[in-house]
Amino acid sequence: MNYEIERLSLHADGVARGPDGTVHVAMALPGEVVEGDVVDGRIAQPKIVTPSPERVKAPCPHYRSCGGCVMQHASEGFTAAWKMDAVRQALIARGLAVPEMTIATSPLQSRRRATFSGRRTKKGTLVGFHARASDTVVEIPNCLILRRELLSIVPMLHEATALAGSRKGEIAFAVTLSEAGLEIAASGGKDPDPAQFETLSGLARQYDLARLSWNAEVIAARRPAIQQFGKAQVVPPPGAFLQATHHGEAALVAFAKAAVGSAQHVADLFAGCGTFALPLAEQAEVHAVEGSAAMTDALDQGWRQAQGLHRVTTETRDLFRRPLLPDELAKFDAVVIDPPRAGAQAQVAEIASSPLPRLVHVSCNPVTFARDAETLLDAGFTLEKLLVVDQFRFSAHVELAALFTR
Ligand SMILES: C[S@@+](CC[C@H](N)C(=O)[O-])C[C@H]1O[C@@H](n2cnc3c(N)ncnc32)[C@H](O)[C@@H]1O
Repeated sequence: MNYEIERLSLHADGVARGPDGTVHVAMALPGEVVEGDVVDGRIAQPKIVTPSPERVKAPCPHYRSCGGCVMQHASEGFTAAWKMDAVRQALIARGLAVPEMTIATSPLQSRRRATFSGRRTKKGTLVGFHARASDTVVEIPNCLILRRELLSIVPMLHEATALAGSRKGEIAFAVTLSEAGLEIAASGGKDPDPAQFETLSGLARQYDLARLSWNAEVIAARRPAIQQFGKAQVVPPPGAFLQATHHGEAALVAFAKAAVGSAQHVADLFAGCGTFALPLAEQAEVHAVEGSAAMTDALDQGWRQAQGLHRVTTETRDLFRRPLLPDELAKFDAVVIDPPRAGAQAQVAEIASSPLPRLVHVSCNPVTFARDAETLLDAGFTLEKLLVVDQFRFSAHVELAALFTR
């Protein structure tokens, strides 16, 4: 039987209507006619009968097997429009007006952080990403999204997997490019015994890592794993959150700096290690609030060692349980907020009942963003403009920054 794809799901599956209800079709595009066996409401291996004009040959040789990318069969223009439409539809679903919107797409080979999986096998070791809809690990030597420096460390990850991995479980290697070289935060492997500790420390030396930690224990700290945020240099704790590409970070920071404008007292909520707070301190005093003490400490150290910045104060606080209250928010003429995927319902409710005139909302989830936007608009804010940032090229992931004023 043939199915015609009507739209894409949030996970980038094609969605068609079948005799027994909705059918999800892997790697299909709107307007395409496909054929295939439906198992549990899904066609996993469709035959494309009528291709879309937006269909392109996937540029990466690993695309068929690797589950890291889901959009390489679509043109760049289609993907950009689809990501902007995900934000548009989330707002429309709540009856909200859609403002002016632009998109910034990170170039190929620009991801500066990625988590590789390592697993021992009968024959040796496998290091790479998970296969599509599976926990099998596939090797990705020609991956098109990662910075070359990240791929260059895969031989070391094989050696570490052989040493401390198992055939049952997996090691997750969070690899980040710092100004001082690569840093790796491994988790999930066996805790190293003294001899393995020594060998891992030798690998860190041999591969010239800036830092290696294993199950949260630092094995080698050879050079400070510095990240540059504006004029400040920060050494984040192992595995700390960072924006995925320098390009995406620069686009978000430029948006936030312009949107904050002439505000002199700014709060940065869910501040991480200072991605926004430190560049904003070039133009305003900033109070940075973040749930992880290790991250606020790193941010504070970075500010103390930098020259030419306005004052930055830090506070470690759980903003889900203890959001900033209206009398605290009254001290600021702008706020930047960048919560995790769950959004910032409690904090946004307090912002709504505060006198705050200007808010930059950075989000990695259009659905929770639209929920928070509705609360803000009900409280008299206007959603002025929106920037969609695609720093997870070829994935279904959408990020955005929005300016609200009143
Ligand atoms: C999307 S990241 C943004 C970090 C930072 N703005 C950046 O761009 O690098 C979200 C941050 O929220 C922090 N976070 C998560 N839950 C939190 C909570 N309940 N209270 C405060 N911070 C929290 C995380 O530690 C993380 O640093």
